[in-house]
Amino acid sequence: MIRINDLSKEYKTKNGLVMGVDRVNLTISEGEVFGIVGYSGAGKSSLLRCINLLERPTSGQIEVNGLDLTKLKGEELRKARLKIGMIFQHFHLISQKTVAENIAFALRAASTPREKMTSRVVELLEMVGLTDKKDVFPAQLSGGQKQRVGIARALANNPSLLLCDEATSALDPNTTLSILRLLKKINRELNITIVLITHEMNVVKEICDRMAVMQDGRVVEEGSVYEIFSNPKAELTKEFISSVLSFEVPQTILDKVTGSIVKVMFKGDVAGEGVISDMVQHFEVRGNFLHGSIEYIQEVPLGLFLMEIQGHPDNIKRAITYMEGRGAQVEVIQNGH
Ligand SMILES: Nc1ncnc2c1ncn2[C@@H]1O[C@H](COP(=O)(O)OP(=O)(O)OP(=O)(O)O)[C@@H](O)[C@H]1O
Ligand SMILES: [Mg+2]
Repeated sequence: MIRINDLSKEYKTKNGLVMGVDRVNLTISEGEVFGIVGYSGAGKSSLLRCINLLERPTSGQIEVNGLDLTKLKGEELRKARLKIGMIFQHFHLISQKTVAENIAFALRAASTPREKMTSRVVELLEMVGLTDKKDVFPAQLSGGQKQRVGIARALANNPSLLLCDEATSALDPNTTLSILRLLKKINRELNITIVLITHEMNVVKEICDRMAVMQDGRVVEEGSVYEIFSNPKAELTKEFISSVLSFEVPQTILDKVTGSIVKVMFKGDVAGEGVISDMVQHFEVRGNFLHGSIEYIQEVPLGLFLMEIQGHPDNIKRAITYMEGRGAQVEVIQNGH
């Protein structure tokens, strides 16, 4: 478990103090994949780098598995940090070393006996699917392969925690997906807690259990990814969610709409049910879809539809009550005219 307690990080610059992280409190459970989202400059990297003390916090505590890292120094701190792996957007591999040597480098830092080193490197290469690239130099690898080396190196010393700073931001969508799947596998099979930073909600949707949204060094919202996607509270969170679940309908279309416009949300199992078609059958209303999608947040469906309902206002009201009775959340965007 990671407990971040009233953590602040100030930077002294020639223009005065800059608050990188401003009194952040967060608890991240063991085995969780936790996402930190925010725009550039929000303080995500500062916060992440404080977690492994790559950056020393100005105030506050970082507790990892019951150990307050801010109280540790020298050898004790070095040892604790070996149990925290980190991967980066631009991989940070050593270009003069082969893939195997890059990984061995991390093992050497933990004084791994030489006879154990080779077998551990083989094991790690297998885990990240790079067995055949063992003797290749980083320049000969694709971005996705480089990140796999980064992951193998981060896992070398059996960490309990893996920190990922925009680990997929330099990768194309397909490669991103394959890296996210690898991270999920590592999380599940090795029970490694993962904290990842991203500005892409698709990344969060794909693998995170819980998330926090940061702005100006502060956490403005936190919670389970599903709850936040279905019911974002902070303005900034809504903005981020709209990048995935967006309901832009051209004005020319809206101008033609005479019925009521409603936003209908289905959470979990009911998403696939024919609630809307039942409603149209049971009440004297007509429904026209204007927009809609079913997102799968870690395999749990979240259905969101924008639709026009035409009919007598009383029937529309009853139809909405009916949908709500079957588990939908309905928001009237505009009444018919
Ligand atoms: N070493 C530093 N010295 C001075 N100011 C810094 C330093 N590192 C970060 N900052 C400042 O702290 C704030 C938070 O920066 P940080 O890099 O943590 O943001 P971020 O959310 O990771 O942004 P990005 O998405 O661009 O990576 C910014 O205002 C930044 O300018
Ligand atoms: Mg950053």
